Amino acid sequence: MAELTNISLARGAPSPDIVAVDDLKAAAANAFEHDAAGMVAYGTAAGYPRLLEWIAKKHDVHPDRVIATNGSMQADAFLFQQLVEPGDVVVVEAPTYDRTLLSLTQLGAEILAIPLEADGIDVGALEVALNQGASPKLAHIIPNFQNPAGCTLSLEKRKRLLELAEQHDFSVFEDDPYVELRFEGESLPTMLSMDDSDRIVYASSFSKTVCPGIRVGYLVGSAELIAGIRKLATNTYISPNMVAQSIVAEFCTSGAIERSIETVKAALRERRDATAEALERHIPDARFVKPQGGYFLWVDLPEGSDVAALEAAAQERGVVFVKGSDFLIEGGESSLRIAYSAVPPDQIEEGISRVADAYRELAGAAA
Ligand SMILES: Cc1ncc(COP(=O)(O)O)c(C=O)c1O
Repeated sequence: MAELTNISLARGAPSPDIVAVDDLKAAAANAFEHDAAGMVAYGTAAGYPRLLEWIAKKHDVHPDRVIATNGSMQADAFLFQQLVEPGDVVVVEAPTYDRTLLSLTQLGAEILAIPLEADGIDVGALEVALNQGASPKLAHIIPNFQNPAGCTLSLEKRKRLLELAEQHDFSVFEDDPYVELRFEGESLPTMLSMDDSDRIVYASSFSKTVCPGIRVGYLVGSAELIAGIRKLATNTYISPNMVAQSIVAEFCTSGAIERSIETVKAALRERRDATAEALERHIPDARFVKPQGGYFLWVDLPEGSDVAALEAAAQERGVVFVKGSDFLIEGGESSLRIAYSAVPPDQIEEGISRVADAYRELAGAAA
């Protein structure tokens, strides 16, 4: 029997063919050419100065309000370490990024999970919880092309969240690594840009616009919060990776980043469409909202479907995805996340047809 090609619909990462390797090489050469002394030194925990300036300009804030880290995962970790103490209530979206759940749980936070709707977190449900006495310190929100659900927070809800944060005195962590990957529809303003009382802490990343291996992300917050996090960063690693950050600075200031974003978006749009078409064709029972950008599509199967069993049956057919329950404290047993970011369209079609085959077999066994 011919060996099956393994297809991963699990990993939230780009395939190497859509990474701008030639532009990265040029950015590295230019970085060494322009500032070898700066990039080979330790630097400071704040990050590489030219990159901080570029980020500050992009968000229209003073560079004192920015820290550039080794990936935005590190930014998330610093923020949680700085703000969250055991017993603190933290609002998360349900479902949400599994690593966020893990970090918060490890810190002893009490998780208040609020369901997602097609236009983002259910602010009505959050308001009810707040009025019933919930007193969160922080709300973690992934506003654009959410991981894992693919949905985007509407403008009305962005405004309402800010009002609720103000009324109930909590901060909002706007975790926004997918913002640049919009395939269609209008871009929405960040909550950071609408905030005039330092309620929003914003993180983003170059993992999706440059490449994940470069490990550069950042955090924007009040100067006071960022000063505290810079101290924490100094004590953790002295300084982040200056070589990587200087390359990203070159990549951004030379305009290579705009080209890279266009390449990535064109490829991902095709992959998103291939995923939606294959699901409609092969698994008519699947319910999903087609995301307007990003890496992920969330699929609900009919209630009672056993996605853990489907995961095992799909794996036997050489396809992996992540089951919905991994992104929730409870529930999600009949849902799954498909990451189309790493797979060319023909493989997506093949992968989903294998998942469909597994689904039919399980449905047949249950009947
Ligand atoms: C919502 C969210 N936050 C943070 C990250 C971490 O990204 P990185 O550390 O590569 O910047 C990811 C990665 O997939 C993510 O989906």
